[in-house]
Amino acid sequence: MNPLLNRLQPYPFEKLRQLFAGITPNPAYTHVNLGIGEPRHPTPDFIRKALCDGLDGLSRYPATIGQDALRLAIANWLHTRYGIPVPNHDTQVLPTLGSREALFSLAQAVLDPSEHGVVVCPNPFYQIYEGATYLGGAEPYFVNADPARHFVADYSRVPSAVWQRTRLLYLCSPANPTGAVLDMAQWREIFALSDQHGFVIASDECYSEIYFGDHPPLGGLEAAHALGRQEYPRLIMLSSLSKRSNVPGMRSGFVAGDADILKRFLLYRTYHGCAMGEHVQHASVAAWQDEAHVRDNRVQYTRKMHAALPLLQQVSDVQMPDAAFYLWADVLDKTGLSDTDFARQLFAQYNVTVLPGSYLAREAHGVNPGENRVRIALVAQYEECMDAIARVVEFVRRL
Ligand SMILES: Cc1ncc(COP(=O)(O)O)c(C=O)c1O
Repeated sequence: MNPLLNRLQPYPFEKLRQLFAGITPNPAYTHVNLGIGEPRHPTPDFIRKALCDGLDGLSRYPATIGQDALRLAIANWLHTRYGIPVPNHDTQVLPTLGSREALFSLAQAVLDPSEHGVVVCPNPFYQIYEGATYLGGAEPYFVNADPARHFVADYSRVPSAVWQRTRLLYLCSPANPTGAVLDMAQWREIFALSDQHGFVIASDECYSEIYFGDHPPLGGLEAAHALGRQEYPRLIMLSSLSKRSNVPGMRSGFVAGDADILKRFLLYRTYHGCAMGEHVQHASVAAWQDEAHVRDNRVQYTRKMHAALPLLQQVSDVQMPDAAFYLWADVLDKTGLSDTDFARQLFAQYNVTVLPGSYLAREAHGVNPGENRVRIALVAQYEECMDAIARVVEFVRRL
């Protein structure tokens, strides 16, 4: 077997299962899971219907490049959402089976294992970045989210010797779990570093449509275009319908950006075997062409966020995120508990699951930036979320 497999860590939810082993949660309460970031608002009916209407495609092998109609729908969505010229749907857009497989497979296509290069990752981060790095024969270099910078990493602190060996930079904006969104100045700095050192930027933007005001998060292609980078050199953005349209089970997303990279990536994907079924493509076209359900989704998340935040602020140190559906709460000061003890005791006493922050980060530069924090995903319906948040508050008050 590939020895690099030994470098993969168990997924955070497996660690959580072990943490909770042997606990019988208080039977007075029904279980509420605020640990997993899986959207639980219902899938819109028109998407379900479009999926069924596309079932004739089951009798054909789908093409890896996807149908023109899908790539056109995505290109038009990018134009409308980000105010950029309509990307070339033949060269600048590719469908993917959600963003996760693409975050992983892009690294396999970009990295040259014989180079033993570096992949710069945010910390905390989505665990796929790390596994993709190891299996690509590279080493991760973690840049810690900085609470003093509203959780944006300070890339100016990465030594130039590291940048020289960097082949890929993962960005996540809006970030899981902090909700932080990169601004134009940060993008300018990142593009300058990429120009100087030649690394590829993989910009994970799967939370881009979950935000709370009138200002949608800035996207990577949008920033590039505004800064005059018309052909998106070395930039690949990744997005997905999972959170936007409440279809995590449909496995539908896309990559867009640098046409030269996408051409090579398409070749890789042909071998990888990740063509999207035509029925999923059919439903995806319908989803990308509709914004009403996305607005409705945002209204629901905004309501939950505004109701939950002030309650949690009474019992933890937590800020309003820029976007996404997570609260990233520091629990140590007000409870004296570590993140794992907090999660364990909360589960035992109140049957609520939250995710220990240390499971989402690695120790780097002398600290695990997730330590003493928990990630609370406001994914359940409003009443269920608020019931669980009330239990969290009571749990802390009774400590
Ligand atoms: C930061 C981040 N990126 C990517 C994904 C993958 O989502 P999907 O493959 O459903 O698009 C997730 C899922 O939770 C995530 O949190």
